[in-house]
Amino acid sequence: MSTLDKQTPQQTSGKEKKVFIKTFGCQMNVYDSERMSDALAKDGYSETTNVDDADLVLLNTCHIREKAAEKVYSDLGRINKTKEKRLAAGGKDMKVAVAGCVAQAEGKEILRRSPVVDLVIGPQTYHQLPNALERVHQGKRVVETEFTEDDKFEHLPKAEKKQIRSRGVTAFLTVQEGCDKFCTFCVVPYTRGSEVSRPANQLISEAESLVAAGVREITLLGQNVNAWHGEGGDGREWGLGELLHELAKIEGLDRLRYTTSHPRDMDQSLINAHRDIEKLMPYLHLPVQSGSDKILKSMNRRHTRDEYIKLMKRIRDVRPDLALSGDFIVGFPGETEEDFEDTLDLIRQVEYAQAYSFKYSPRPGTPGADFDNHVPEDIKADRLKRLQTLLAEQQLAFSQQCVGKDIDLLLEKKGKREGQLIGRSPWLQSVIVDAKESQIGDIIKVRITRAAPNSLEADII
Ligand code: 5AD
Ligand code: SF4
Repeated sequence: MSTLDKQTPQQTSGKEKKVFIKTFGCQMNVYDSERMSDALAKDGYSETTNVDDADLVLLNTCHIREKAAEKVYSDLGRINKTKEKRLAAGGKDMKVAVAGCVAQAEGKEILRRSPVVDLVIGPQTYHQLPNALERVHQGKRVVETEFTEDDKFEHLPKAEKKQIRSRGVTAFLTVQEGCDKFCTFCVVPYTRGSEVSRPANQLISEAESLVAAGVREITLLGQNVNAWHGEGGDGREWGLGELLHELAKIEGLDRLRYTTSHPRDMDQSLINAHRDIEKLMPYLHLPVQSGSDKILKSMNRRHTRDEYIKLMKRIRDVRPDLALSGDFIVGFPGETEEDFEDTLDLIRQVEYAQAYSFKYSPRPGTPGADFDNHVPEDIKADRLKRLQTLLAEQQLAFSQQCVGKDIDLLLEKKGKREGQLIGRSPWLQSVIVDAKESQIGDIIKVRITRAAPNSLEADII
């Protein structure tokens, strides 16, 4: 969550209002929350980190697994109590909005389950937020979940320089949304809709504004980011590789990353970008989900285990120092011990620097939820533990081989102790170093001295 500067009187309409924003789930939600915050700032809202102080509470939610979705309802219960207590003490009113993928998936069911909610707004309609809030203030309960043809990003106001700067020296930029792949476990094609790429000129201009405000690293986001395509400045159809080349030309932008990708969309121009673009950091998040061909097929991943392993090798051949990351699901319906062993074996072959892993969670409306042979929870838990043990060993091994290396470190924020700063290595590891606060935003040379499971320590050279 980010804290906004107080708005100037010209920007506010009427008295100062406070919004408390809580973001669940993925980085795309983080980006969306920032854009909603920018839209609300134009309406006179500034962000607060204290829910007791809020005129508006906005939950930006995630529907990917059951646990994430259920958390929203427990939060709404707590918010309801806060609101009632405040009203009973003669305090001000509080409006409550639910945005994001739970809003899209459950729509007016949220109003039924949670009487405290005034507004339900899906990810494709954020540009309608100020208008929807106006109706809320007229006493209506509003649901906005239509998929419209409108380009919401085009209609959302741009962030002020000061707002961008207050969010730090790294930034997210959503370049693509939605998914046409329909993996059988996944809600994304239903909650975010079909694949849409934002136009290149819009993205270049947004990246330039971020850099002008002091951002030095941009992570391009998309549910299927490497499926991004659009008409480039030269009139030709570009893919993500070409877009990265163009963004790399922006002076003052030092680092580029992108996430999250699908193996089927890793074309040669993108692979070559890892060889040719110095600013593109040597890190790739490429989910595989399972190492068993049988499970990959029933997940509708549309690639085999062997194709994935060969692809990883091709990318490593052009960029040998690449850190690989992935997503894994254990306990998909029909997964036997042998299928699971195939996943462990794939992990041993690929050697990941980092990874995310989950127990399969059946999601309403997805084909997987109706499959036979669901795996019992205790077996899922056992497999997840074994998988995470192996991944943690690989992560530590990757970090340990960094010890003694001299690297460039982008200093991002203050550390836990006085005099410490935290930065990111090219491979996305957190690195702790003794440095002055005024150095935040600098890229400095450091020598890695120690590897812990989740961070590295370094000395300035
Ligand atoms: N159950 C468990 N994990 C899931 N993911 C997506 N859907 C599910 C589900 N139903 C995981 C995948 C995906 C990541 C974002 O979340 O690994 O890559
Ligand atoms: Fe979901 Fe990713 Fe599969 Fe799309 S590619 S359906 S977002 S897991």
